[in-house]
Amino acid sequence: MSIEIRKVGVIGAGQMGGGIAQVAAASGYEVALNDISEERINAGLATINGNLARQVSKGHLTEEEKTLILARITSAPTYEHFNDADLVIEAAVENEDIKRKIFQALCPALKPTALIGTNTSSISVTRLASTTDRPEQFIGIHFMNPVPVMQLVEVIRGIATSEETFEATRALVEKIGKSLTVAEDFPGFIVNRILLPMINEAIYTLYEGVGSVESIDTAMRLGANHPMGPLQLADFIGLDTCLSIMQVLYEGLADSKYRPCPLLVKYVEAGWLGRKTRRGFYDYR
Ligand code: CAA
Repeated sequence: MSIEIRKVGVIGAGQMGGGIAQVAAASGYEVALNDISEERINAGLATINGNLARQVSKGHLTEEEKTLILARITSAPTYEHFNDADLVIEAAVENEDIKRKIFQALCPALKPTALIGTNTSSISVTRLASTTDRPEQFIGIHFMNPVPVMQLVEVIRGIATSEETFEATRALVEKIGKSLTVAEDFPGFIVNRILLPMINEAIYTLYEGVGSVESIDTAMRLGANHPMGPLQLADFIGLDTCLSIMQVLYEGLADSKYRPCPLLVKYVEAGWLGRKTRRGFYDYR
C-alpha cells in the first residue's frame, strides 16, 4: 500500500530544518515548523522569508509565489501541531540523547500512520528507530547544507524500515526536485564518511603548521576545485557538528584514523563553532 505525504512536520528551525521547511513548502507540501521556542521558530521563518525575497529580487520567483510558499508554513510550538502530519522530519542537533528525547515525546502526538524521518548526518538510523514506537515507519533523510541549493538527499534505511516507507521517501525527494542516493546504515553513511575525515585532516594540517588557514583553503579551492576550502566549509557546517560526526566515526568504526583533531576539540570547547557563533577558523565579527 503506498503512503501519500501531504503535510510535513519539521523539528528544528535552524539552517537544516529551516531549509527543509523551505524546499518542502516550495514544492507544495503543507509544513509545520517546530523548535524549542517561539523565538527560534520565528527566526527560522525570518530566514526563509529572506531566502525567498532574494529569489524574488533575482527574478527566480514572483512575489505571489513567495506569498503562497510562506502561507504553507505554519508555526508548531508543540508536537500536538503534528497530529495531522504524514511525515515528521527531525533536524535537531547532532546529539543522540537529544534525538532520543525528541522521539519519545513526539511519538504519542502522531497519528499511527505517520512516518518519521531523521536528518541525522552520522548516527545509526536503526538505533534511533528503536527509540520510537514505529521502526518500520522510520528512515534517514539526510539533506545537505545549504538545503535550497544542494542537489543531494542521502536516504538511509534502518534494519526495520519498510519498503512503503522507503518508497514514500523516494517520492518526496523526487517531488522536491532533489537527487537521491541510498546509503547503508554505517557511521557517517557515505557523504560524511568521506567528507569529514577530509575536513579533520585539513584541521590537522593547520594544527601541525603545514599551512595557514588561508593557504589550506586556497590549496583546496584552487588545487582541487572545491567550492569552499575545508576550513571555510567546517565553519559553515558548524564545528560542533563536525566534532560530533568525527566522534561517531571514531567510536563506531574503532579506527584511530578517525580521531578528532585536538584543535577541533579545543575550538568547540571555546565555543568557537564557526559562522553561527561568528568565530571559528575565520573571524566573522
Ligand atoms: N541558503 C539559500 N540559498 C543560498 C545559500 C543559503 N545558505 N547560500 C547560497 N545560496 C544560493 C544563492 O542565493 C545563489 O542562488 P542563485 O543561483 O539562485 O542566484 C546560489 O546559492 C549561489 O550562491 P552564491 O553565488 O552566493 O555563492 P557561491 O557560488 O559561492 O555558492 C555555495 C555558495 C553553494 C554554498 C558553495 O560555496 C558551495 O557549494 N559550498 C560547499 C557546500 C557544501 O559542500 N555543502 C555540503 C556540506 S556537508 C553537509 O551538508 C552534510 C553534513 O551532514 C555536514
